[in-house]
Amino acid sequence: MNSKKDKLVNFLTNKPVIIWGARMTGMGFLRFSTSNNLNVLNFVDSDPALLGKKVNNKTVRAPKDLSLLKKINPDLIIVIAVSIKEDEIIKKLTTMGFTDDDFVLYSDYCDVYYTIDVVGTCNLRCASCAYTIEGQKYSKGLMSLEDFKQVVSKIKSEVDIVTHVSLYNWGEPLLHPELNKIIDHLHENGIAAAVSSHLSIVTGSQIRKLIKAAPEYLKISLSGYYPDVYDVTHAGGNINLVKSNLYRIRYFIDQFKANTLVDVNYHLYTNNNSKNLIKMQELCDELGFTLSSVNSLVMPLERVIDYVEGKDEARTAELNKILPVTIEEGMSVASDYKLDSCPFMDNQVNINYDMSVPVCCTVFDQTDTIVTKNFLKSSLSEITNAKHKVKLCTKCMNYNLPAYNMGFNRKKLDEIALQKTSTDN
Ligand SMILES: C[S@@+](CC[C@H](N)C(=O)[O-])C[C@H]1O[C@@H](n2cnc3c(N)ncnc32)[C@H](O)[C@@H]1O
Ligand code: SF4
Repeated sequence: MNSKKDKLVNFLTNKPVIIWGARMTGMGFLRFSTSNNLNVLNFVDSDPALLGKKVNNKTVRAPKDLSLLKKINPDLIIVIAVSIKEDEIIKKLTTMGFTDDDFVLYSDYCDVYYTIDVVGTCNLRCASCAYTIEGQKYSKGLMSLEDFKQVVSKIKSEVDIVTHVSLYNWGEPLLHPELNKIIDHLHENGIAAAVSSHLSIVTGSQIRKLIKAAPEYLKISLSGYYPDVYDVTHAGGNINLVKSNLYRIRYFIDQFKANTLVDVNYHLYTNNNSKNLIKMQELCDELGFTLSSVNSLVMPLERVIDYVEGKDEARTAELNKILPVTIEEGMSVASDYKLDSCPFMDNQVNINYDMSVPVCCTVFDQTDTIVTKNFLKSSLSEITNAKHKVKLCTKCMNYNLPAYNMGFNRKKLDEIALQKTSTDN
């Protein structure tokens, strides 16, 4: 019988293809398409930050352009390549008059998305991050290049299609001295690489090596343009160092002609969403980088559960005061979405630097959430079965926290945020 990969390639060969989703899943599919000689015309994405931009050398067009593109290319197939919010896209396509014959869901072919947290530590202490919680149980360290190669080899032996891997979860990947070799190894295996960094690191040579390795996606996480606000939520970091490194990245992208999408991810709080945001947008425009924003959340999951259950965590309450959407407001918006199963559990496998596998990317405390201590020694089906036995998930589903964490209904969340008084004038 044909593998899923063969079926997908056979179906798409000689057809013009548009990829809906110009972030990591879409970029991974583009890499897959290139390796399999498929004819990808463009990306489509509804994120205004990406419109008209080139992502890995393909232009991103607006969803409204699809009708015209279909008229010009009657054989056109839209590949929906996103890790979440597929349903919203299908609804949109249906209202535009497209039918099941016009699109395929990449998730029907690619069963699992992998995250490998290659660094198990961070040099910053962001207020919203797991690393600031006193008494949390976790171990610190780096995944060796050798272990990383074994992980990739096992992944390839267990799934038909793996087109991208994210190299971060809680840790700071730029602290890994061999990050460039890790990315090179993915590329040698036809796999696209995603990196997310706070970029508050001193060594310029690390940035040079990173850009030379050309990860497809480089997310830069920050929360302000000026130190007075950045320091509140990115404690231990230095925004002037971050800005100088953004210039360095531009310099090295030009030098190495790297096809990396640099996505500056601005964490919104009520103290940074006006003047600071405008200045950061100007800097991104100057450097040709995308700026996307997120209504900051409190992380990890255990901390939100503690807060909801009234357990005393003074820092969470402090942080909640400057969130554009408080935990209570976010959970209220999420209550419109009742999920039958958890998307974080269903299609993701996260591997920690020490090979242990947590039930999902949202948890941090390792007491009852590790489903195997060694990814290499447990099969994918053993991992999947063990995930379904994690007790914390019952509580998490009861509180509807997966929907909260996914930030469904961004429009409504933004409306709530807009009503808040900003201190950033
Ligand atoms: C915990 S960070 C670790 C990776 C890396 N050190 C970084 O700072 O990007 C993992 C991801 O969470 C996102 N993130 C961090 N704090 C957040 C917050 N308060 N709300 C929403 N996303 C956040 C970051 O943008 C990043 O992509
Ligand atoms: S139910 Fe909650 S803890 Fe369990 S996998 Fe989903 S997000 Fe993670």
